[in-house]
Amino acid sequence: MKILMVCLGNICRSPLAQGIMEKHAPEQWHIDSAGTSGWHASERPDTRSILIAKERDISIEQQRSRQVTTEDFETFDIIFAMDSSNFSNLIQLAPNESVKNKVRLILNESYPGENRQVPDPYTGGQEGFSHVYELLEEAIQSFLKTH
Ligand code: 4NP
Repeated sequence: MKILMVCLGNICRSPLAQGIMEKHAPEQWHIDSAGTSGWHASERPDTRSILIAKERDISIEQQRSRQVTTEDFETFDIIFAMDSSNFSNLIQLAPNESVKNKVRLILNESYPGENRQVPDPYTGGQEGFSHVYELLEEAIQSFLKTH
């Protein structure tokens, strides 16, 4: 199984989603993350994401931000969007119709059919990052129960 986690900047939410999935998924699975924007390309995750992950024994500081590419739609089996803006940007980027069904909202794993969003924590404080962490942990646990 190959899974790509996607948010806007690839420095706050999707690096955490990658780290949590890597911790719990079978070792042979390939997990990566990317941003719909390239604004932070080659940067480390935000220090607030690094901290919240470290508190849970997950190391994400080796990750580097990159932008989503059209090849990602061929490489990955599932592409998880953090919010509906990421979702629609991904659908627009999809190189053909048949790969569009790879794109899913990640919180529909824990709250099926509700189209909930992982809020963008970038302009807020550390508590926003704790909230994001809990949402992602719950969604990833739900996903892994059925895969
Ligand atoms: P992310 O958060 O999409 O969870 O990585 C953001 C990071 C940076 C910006 C926005 C959201 N930005 O505007 O630079």
